[in-house]
Amino acid sequence: MKELEGRIAFITGAASGMGRASALLMASEGATVIVSDINEEGAEAVVKEIEASGGSAVAKVLDVTKPDHVTACIQSVGDQFGRLDVLYANAGTPGATGSNVTQEEYDFSTGVNLTGAYFAAQAAIPLLKESKHTASILFTASTAGLVGSFLSPLYSMSKGGVVMLAKALALSLAPKIRVNVICPGPIDTPMLPKFWSREQQDGVEERLDNWVTNDIPLGRRGRPEEIAQAALFLASDRASFITGVALPVDGGFVAR
Ligand SMILES: NC(=O)c1ccc[n+]([C@@H]2O[C@H](COP(=O)([O-])OP(=O)(O)OC[C@H]3O[C@@H](n4cnc5c(N)ncnc54)[C@H](O)[C@@H]3O)[C@@H](O)[C@H]2O)c1
Repeated sequence: MKELEGRIAFITGAASGMGRASALLMASEGATVIVSDINEEGAEAVVKEIEASGGSAVAKVLDVTKPDHVTACIQSVGDQFGRLDVLYANAGTPGATGSNVTQEEYDFSTGVNLTGAYFAAQAAIPLLKESKHTASILFTASTAGLVGSFLSPLYSMSKGGVVMLAKALALSLAPKIRVNVICPGPIDTPMLPKFWSREQQDGVEERLDNWVTNDIPLGRRGRPEEIAQAALFLASDRASFITGVALPVDGGFVAR
């Protein structure tokens, strides 16, 4: 029996990187995956990839910064399937770096990273309560939500908020819904170089390599598929006694 056989999993930011890898893996384990993203073409491409390997998926265009849009989108999944079994609120942005940001930059970062996560969970909870299983909410925060980021206080603040959101929801939603948060270290996705500012983009790969070599005990970047494995585990019944956990998947970065 596949691990997520017959389950409905809704993933935000699923057109690329960790969201895409998690969509592919969860679908290969039997879930029908709702591949949601602001990037419509990207979401449709992931759905095609899943279908080509015999899985089941639906694409949804979704801007997580718009609570009404998030609610309507998740509700449309409820209308179609009558329930949700897994919500993975993964969409995020590095946003502005440095400690001097405009109000617009502040609103953008908190809009994607915090508002997006909060309202996705709020909209999904009634549908997750309809699951025949112990339903699961996952978030993607960051190691920057566990320890301060030297690159962006704003990012650290928003991801720290996501960690606390997960822990608080784990308490209020037990025992029906388990809630956990994945805290990735540097993962090789299109986002990774964007944690450095525009002025630092020259030679960014070298900066990244230096950082990873010096500060990541396992001495390399992670792969999106390694985050997907953690997401699959936490979403599955193998993690049936795990809730309220902020799991670093970071090559040992926060062990220091
Ligand atoms: N890559 C890293 O090193 C790293 C480290 C720690 C945490 N993270 C977090 O991991 C998560 C996934 O990032 P990734 O590295 O896979 O990046 P990615 O850029 O590969 O994918 C992010 C996806 O989110 C989508 N997205 C962006 N804004 C959106 C919005 N408003 N509404 C809906 N979708 C939106 C993008 O279109 C994209 O498909 C993010 O929350 C990010 O903050 C990344």
